[in-house]
This record gives sequence, C-alpha cells and structure tokens, in this order.
Amino acid sequence: MQQEILLKILLSGLTAASMLAICAASANAALDDAKAQDIMKKGGCTACHSVDKKGVGPAYKDVAAKHKGESDAAAKLEKMVRSGSKGAYGQIPMPPNPAAKISDAELHELAEWVLTK
Ligand code: HEC
Repeated sequence: MQQEILLKILLSGLTAASMLAICAASANAALDDAKAQDIMKKGGCTACHSVDKKGVGPAYKDVAAKHKGESDAAAKLEKMVRSGSKGAYGQIPMPPNPAAKISDAELHELAEWVLTK
C-alpha cells in the first residue's frame, strides 16, 4: 500500500518535470500561433490581415507563398512592414508600422512566423 503511494508521488513528480522541460523548450522555439496573434493585435495588424483570408491586406499564407524560397524573405518583410508597402499585392497600400506598434524583435519573430504559413 505504501509502496503504491510512493510510486504515485514519484510518477506525478516525473510528469511535472517533463512538462516543465517541454515548456522550457517551446519558449526557445519559434513563435507559436497564440503569441503571434497577441503581437498582431497589439500592433493593429489584425485589422487588415489574417492567416487564411484576404482582408484589406493579403492573407499571410499568400505572403508566405509569394516569398517561398527567397533566402532574405524575413528581412524583406520586416522592411516592408516597418516602412509600409504599395503595389506588391494590389492598389491598397499598407501604412508604415512604427516601433511604437511593433518592436524590431517582435517584427523579426512575426516575419519568420508569417513565412511558415
Ligand atoms: C491598414 C491595413 C493594414 C495594416 C494595419 C497592416 N497591414 Fe500589412 N499589408 C496591408 C496591405 C494592403 C498590404 C499589401 C501592400 C502591397 O500591395 O504592397 C500589406 C502587406 C503586408 C505584408 C506582405 C509584405 C511583402 O513584402 O510581401 C506583410 C508581411 C504584412 N503586411 C504584415 C503586417 C504586419 C505585421 C502588420 C502590423 C504591424 C500589418 N501588416 C499592418 C495592409 C495592412
């Protein structure tokens, strides 16, 4: 009986430890969808963009498809988002997005995330 309890404690400890390990690993990995959405909401991007549907701006999956295979794609996107863009997808321009809306670090992570869509 006591052995059984001990075993249970041991097992639950192991589970907690492995969950911590998984969390620590994903914190270092690329942006997950939820975090990306947070950044986009804060930066006001969601008003014009979504992953799957064209809105005022292109769907992120169309952006990813357009830049597929370009080695400097993330850097290009970052520059476009920061300074604004016109004519790449249509006649509607994207206004510049200053650092007050989205920091360099956030923009970099987000650009890489968009390219995975
Ligand atoms: C007012 C609407 C609007 C807002 C707000 C907006 N965008 Fe855009 N975005 C556009 C439009 C329109 C285009 C297409 C511009 C073009 O045709 O050159 C675009 C293009 C893009 C592209 C593709 C650039 C490329 O080179 O292929 C990315 C990536 C992007 N936006 C990300 C963002 C992010 C991230 C934010 C928030 C910080 C944001 N956008 C905010 C309208 C918007």
